[in-house]
Amino acid sequence: MKFFIDTANLDQIEEAQQLGVLDGVTTNPSLMAKEGITGKNNIMKHYVDICTIVDGDVSAEVVATEFNGMVKEGEELADLHEQIVVKVPMIKDGVKALKYFSDKGIRTNCTLVFSPGQAILAAKAGANYVSPFIGRLDDVSTDGLNLISEIRHIYDNYGFETEILAASIRHTMHVIDCAKIGADVMTGPLSAILGLLKHPLTDIGLEKFLADYKKGNS
Ligand code: G3P
Repeated sequence: MKFFIDTANLDQIEEAQQLGVLDGVTTNPSLMAKEGITGKNNIMKHYVDICTIVDGDVSAEVVATEFNGMVKEGEELADLHEQIVVKVPMIKDGVKALKYFSDKGIRTNCTLVFSPGQAILAAKAGANYVSPFIGRLDDVSTDGLNLISEIRHIYDNYGFETEILAASIRHTMHVIDCAKIGADVMTGPLSAILGLLKHPLTDIGLEKFLADYKKGNS
């Protein structure tokens, strides 16, 4: 399972990269705004800064909502750096843009996916990644993890190569459950990754080992 971090915060990206388990980054316009990154030039520069920190794919989202605008923006984003993956929303023109980018060899991540039908369309259009938002489904009393299972089942039926990128991960158990189901990638906050480290028996065990070492070496 690939681990992506879902943030535009350079310190958090650096911390995850230093841990040695990071495979990429996803961003979106809200995450950029949260870091105070505004204006096209600053946003483009920030994408390049992210690419210099991580070795893997960096999703950069288009903000146009009609085909020609998406193509123009997506081509500019893809030209920025070889690690850029163009993030395209699951709307009608977005599907057309996914197919266009796929034909041109520009890698894509289809975002804002909330149903199996949308995931089928993304795969048919040649998206490299599909991003089902599990946390936002949970927020409206719908089982987000079930969507991951359904997409896994459908993609396996037909050998679709689109990678399932479980997005809107909110906590550590989401990561573990997505791994059980077989999501190819998860993107979440740093806290969800660091949460995997934690177990009280590890802390108690280490304390005892160190205390016993001290006893024997004092
Ligand atoms: O990047 C897309 C997705 O991960 C957003 O997550 O927490 O805003 O629902 P969230």
